[in-house]
Amino acid sequence: MDDSQLYQKLPDVLLPWYRENRRDLPWRHDREPYHVWVSEIMLQQTRVEAVKGYYSRFLAALPDIAALANCDDDTLHKLWEGLGYYSRVRNLKKAAQAVLEYHGGQFPRQHAQVLALSGIGAYTAGAICSICYNQPTPAVDGNVLRVIARVMDDDTPIDLPARKKAVQDALTEIYPAEAGDFTQALMELGATICGPNWKPCCEICPCRDFCRGHINGTAEQLPVKSPKKTRKEEDKTVLILHCDGRFALEKRPEKGLLAGLWQFPNVDGMKTPEQALETAAQMGLQPREILRQLERKHIFTHIQWNMRGFYIEVEKPGDPFHWFTPEQINAQAALPTAFRQFWEERAYV
Ligand code: ADE
Repeated sequence: MDDSQLYQKLPDVLLPWYRENRRDLPWRHDREPYHVWVSEIMLQQTRVEAVKGYYSRFLAALPDIAALANCDDDTLHKLWEGLGYYSRVRNLKKAAQAVLEYHGGQFPRQHAQVLALSGIGAYTAGAICSICYNQPTPAVDGNVLRVIARVMDDDTPIDLPARKKAVQDALTEIYPAEAGDFTQALMELGATICGPNWKPCCEICPCRDFCRGHINGTAEQLPVKSPKKTRKEEDKTVLILHCDGRFALEKRPEKGLLAGLWQFPNVDGMKTPEQALETAAQMGLQPREILRQLERKHIFTHIQWNMRGFYIEVEKPGDPFHWFTPEQINAQAALPTAFRQFWEERAYV
């Protein structure tokens, strides 16, 4: 059997398997483009279980594209708080504004127009156009590349752009009329049977009779990835400054990592307790004492922060910080996870 004959087998087995075995997920209840779009953006870097609650809350707060386009940034960041990769939600809003301006408020149907929206790449455009409009537009991400690498017993590194293009082209050729179900069937197989961090469940896989990786015994060694570049590390000292039931926060710059979100005041480098007190003094505050010291790390895509947090009691609240009550921090301020971990541990102070 040649490669194209093998690809052709996929819809025949995956469509019935998907209809029988699909998980009941909130974004599968309808095919409204706005809903599918929001879910796909959330799912780009976040696990299904984590997305469920965010998805429902987001749509309850912002039920349509116009509501998203007109939402203020603080509310938007709050709805996204904890999901990470905040540029995703800024792009969502930008794209919603473009839908109002250029498409009369109707989410576009043409793949090229969908692809032109902020934050929508080939994967998301493929997912939306196939799921919502049954267009033959594959959505190829790491999960689909893994499934195909195993079915085809192909050890080309899946991170090579040429590999992705080849898989996209091959899938486009065999897309069935029920395109939306096929897109989701491939995702579902990658999530539930042919997963990334555990032994594939070949015994119950609908592809077991023709999957070359299973037949040749190579499935577990696939997919192959190029050697990883090491992530840059940065040391940070974070000051959790407390006075009279309030905590000091400041806004991050409007550009760059975690743009426009709130943070605890912090400086580069790993400071000693003495240096931390000195830093607070240089910020114009009168530190009384350090209550506690805590080390945490946070991993972003390209960088890792090694953070040392100092919980410091100060004499009085001072500029240039905003002094928030715990209720305000919980209800209003979008505090990214990197900093939130210090917030969540404050009870022990
Ligand atoms: N991952 C990415 N998109 C998904 C979807 N629509 N359903 C389940 N997992 C996904």
